Amino acid sequence: MKFFLDTASLAEIKWASEAGLIDGVTTNPSLMAKDLGDLDPREVIRRICEMVPGSVSAEVVSLGAEEMYQEGKELAKIADNVTVKVPMTEAGLIATKRLATDGIKVNVTLCFSSMQCLMAAKAGAAFVSPFIGRVDDIGQVGMDIISEARQMFDNYGFDTEILAASIRHPRHVADAALIGADVATVPTKILKQMMLHPLTDKGLSQFMDDWNKVSSKGE
Ligand code: G3P
Repeated sequence: MKFFLDTASLAEIKWASEAGLIDGVTTNPSLMAKDLGDLDPREVIRRICEMVPGSVSAEVVSLGAEEMYQEGKELAKIADNVTVKVPMTEAGLIATKRLATDGIKVNVTLCFSSMQCLMAAKAGAAFVSPFIGRVDDIGQVGMDIISEARQMFDNYGFDTEILAASIRHPRHVADAALIGADVATVPTKILKQMMLHPLTDKGLSQFMDDWNKVSSKGE
């Protein structure tokens, strides 16, 4: 399973990339607005692409098919590893088809059902992003979208990658991995949580205490 970092924070991406913990990055307009600072959005994407060799999702902010297509083409010029993110709308799928035909990778975002994932795959998306946490938030089971999309893609041989998004906790990542999602995109806080277990800390502390009792003996 690949891990992407779900952020536009250059500092967080630098840390995770240098630590070798991530395979790519996803951004969206909300994340960009949060971390943009004084920089131009294209410059932020360019800098992220320099830091991370894998896929970097940059989202269009227009709504019409032609506008999304033109905007996607411009975003794709920023770097070879840009993946253009488009919303799961009728116009978004038309833009997806055109961008994919031009050889540009597309991540169809804001997917809330397996049927939307299937439609996006048929349009030629390289990635589909089901939003697990937001579905859980309304009392439904977000992970069902991953299971159903996995089965559908396997039934018909789609090579579109399932990118589990809107991840709220490490268990979401574990469950998505068990089902066979190709990628999980996680906020930095959750990437850090994924490395932790209280028994690891307790065990390490015990090892250090025991070792310190004997290590002074040779002095
Ligand atoms: O990349 C988009 C997605 O991960 C959003 O997550 O937490 O805003 O539902 P969230």
